[in-house]
Amino acid sequence: MSEKIKATINGSEFEFPVIEGTENEKAIDISKLRARTGHITYDDGFKNTGSCQSEITFIDGETGILRYRGYPIEELAEKSTFLEVAYLLTNGELPSTAQLDEFRREVSEYTPIHHDMRHHFAGFPSTAHPMAILSAMFNAVSCYTPHLTESTYDKQSFEEATARLLGAASTIAAYTFKKANGRPFTFSNPRLGYVENFLHMMFTDPYTEYEIDPEIVKALDLIFVLHADHEQNCSTSTVRMVASSRANLFASVASGVSALWGPLHGGANTAVLKQLKQIHTSGMTIEECVRLAKDKDSDFRLMGFGHRVYKNFDPRANILKKACDRVFSVLNKKDPYLDIAKKLEEVALTDEYFIERKLYPNVDFYSGIIMRAIGIPVNMFTVMFAIGRMPGWIANWREVRENPDSVIYRPRQVYQGPTCRSYVPADKRG
Ligand code: ACO
Repeated sequence: MSEKIKATINGSEFEFPVIEGTENEKAIDISKLRARTGHITYDDGFKNTGSCQSEITFIDGETGILRYRGYPIEELAEKSTFLEVAYLLTNGELPSTAQLDEFRREVSEYTPIHHDMRHHFAGFPSTAHPMAILSAMFNAVSCYTPHLTESTYDKQSFEEATARLLGAASTIAAYTFKKANGRPFTFSNPRLGYVENFLHMMFTDPYTEYEIDPEIVKALDLIFVLHADHEQNCSTSTVRMVASSRANLFASVASGVSALWGPLHGGANTAVLKQLKQIHTSGMTIEECVRLAKDKDSDFRLMGFGHRVYKNFDPRANILKKACDRVFSVLNKKDPYLDIAKKLEEVALTDEYFIERKLYPNVDFYSGIIMRAIGIPVNMFTVMFAIGRMPGWIANWREVRENPDSVIYRPRQVYQGPTCRSYVPADKRG
């Protein structure tokens, strides 16, 4: 018999069904709570609220598990590529060779954005934040594809919109970089793979030669794979919320970019690099830095440490740490920031404060150092995160739109403002 939870409210007893997930997670279904009892639940920040049932990504933060569509992140990181993972997330299954070839071809076909869109870039100041441009440009892409902005859903349009968004993301990111540096735009090269082509558009121009290093391609591809989805985080929940109103994929993803921009979410990778720079330039010792992070009178925190969900380790951070070592050794590079990061990690991981609170390096701790080695400027780190997260946003949008029972997301609140009062004319207000 399926489990039920009993609640006694104002002396009356009510039963609520329990929903069980495929990994034995349990949730009390309170969807009829208000209708039956007049009460709502209160959960500020949704820390304890399941907003949906999803088949996309599974996380167990206690044991450091992350799986996309059932596949462990460690296996995907080792054996797969970003476009293959994008196909997996957005379609539910890994592609056959023919399916993957077709997916690559479609993404490549739509990577060049409409030529008129260069005028949009001309309108932004060169000091514009790349995340502001990215969000605005995703909505702008839809202006050139009105047939994809219908509120109805069909699979063919979804596939075209997916390929357009994945392709456009790399072009918009590269053009934003060129715009900020006053360099000419470089057109997409359809003979190159997704990441190679992105590096080509970023770093090549008629005055600059850039040799695409396969190790760098591998490292950036890995960063994208590790960021591709992360269950109901702030930006993905935002995308689902917007999708629930039947808004199109471009508008929904543009809102996801805005949510990701915040320093408590996608902006954390930038904060890690700023902190490493601060330590490096100020000459602060590692011990002083750890002491400050533990001092409750200071608001200094070790950026890149701790995670709301992972409480033993972040599996993505373990993978990236190894990748970081490989990149620096293959490229024969040195970076004082990497030395500081390693010492910080070593000291923090043996310190009682961090052990007690289960604070481990998260995905942002090493991703920024790798991106710095690649030559990506710090203010574009969150844009790289956005390119990586695109398949997750798209997959979640699709899940909402294909759910026949989907309703518009519309939470309730507990009102704490003034009770009813009468209007007073301006000249009579004290
Ligand atoms: N440095 C020092 N102390 C920390 C840190 C840190 N990075 N993170 C948490 N703590 C301490 C808190 O002060 C608190 O101590 P207390 O119990 O003595 O009061 C305890 O650990 C628990 O911290 P919370 O903030 O309650 O933990 P929560 O799970 O809410 O926060 C968060 C997680 C926001 C990630 C936090 O660890 C943090 O601010 N980390 C630094 C920023 C960062 O790296 N963010 C990236 C997250 S990953 C991502 O978005 C992709």
